[in-house]
Amino acid sequence: MSPSAAPLREPRSGYPPGARVLFTGEQIRSTVERMAGEIRAAYGEQELTVVAVLHGGLVFAADLIRRLDMPLRLGVVMASSYRGEAREPAALELPQHPQLDVADRHVLLLDDILDTGRTLSALAERLGALGPRSLRTVTLLDKPSRRVVPIQADFRGFEIPDLFVVGYGLDFNERYRNLPDIVALPPPATGPRPG
Ligand code: IMP
Ligand code: MG
Repeated sequence: MSPSAAPLREPRSGYPPGARVLFTGEQIRSTVERMAGEIRAAYGEQELTVVAVLHGGLVFAADLIRRLDMPLRLGVVMASSYRGEAREPAALELPQHPQLDVADRHVLLLDDILDTGRTLSALAERLGALGPRSLRTVTLLDKPSRRVVPIQADFRGFEIPDLFVVGYGLDFNERYRNLPDIVALPPPATGPRPG
């Protein structure tokens, strides 16, 4: 579903000033349901180890795993690349190890959004080195026009243009993760951004 198909209604209070709704909670719900169907079709009854990237992937992970009915283990990794009010990724900080064993497991690495691709590719490399039986990736949002590292998610929800989005787990300066919709911030006032 493309963002242009979604209503751009005026957000209510608690939303960032000037923001526009790209995807409503209801649209997100049906997309997560569709993705869960694709994941069920891919894995069948096999046990799945979901590794969610915090904090952004938290809300998506919570909704997705409750729609999966195979045996499932949930682990988390913390990765952060955004700093304060910056919209551009700073140096990527990655953990040394996931807190859940992944060797010989069917691993599904989950993140909120695929932007430059640095986070997911670095984490996939890190997990791949630990000897999983299989390793796939899932992202709710995808900004392919921003890609720096060539990586595609095996399962993805929405493709969006080069916009900075918040809500449904995604933040700007640690705010707005609690919004039920996904909304686009207005572009920054100061000229085109680098990268
Ligand atoms: P990448 O490493 O550039 O692909 O960035 C992925 C990470 O950056 C995601 O896990 C998000 O936490 C963050 N990020 C990228 N784009 C956005 C956005 O539009 N809104 C909020 N966070 C974002
Ligand atoms: Mg993130």
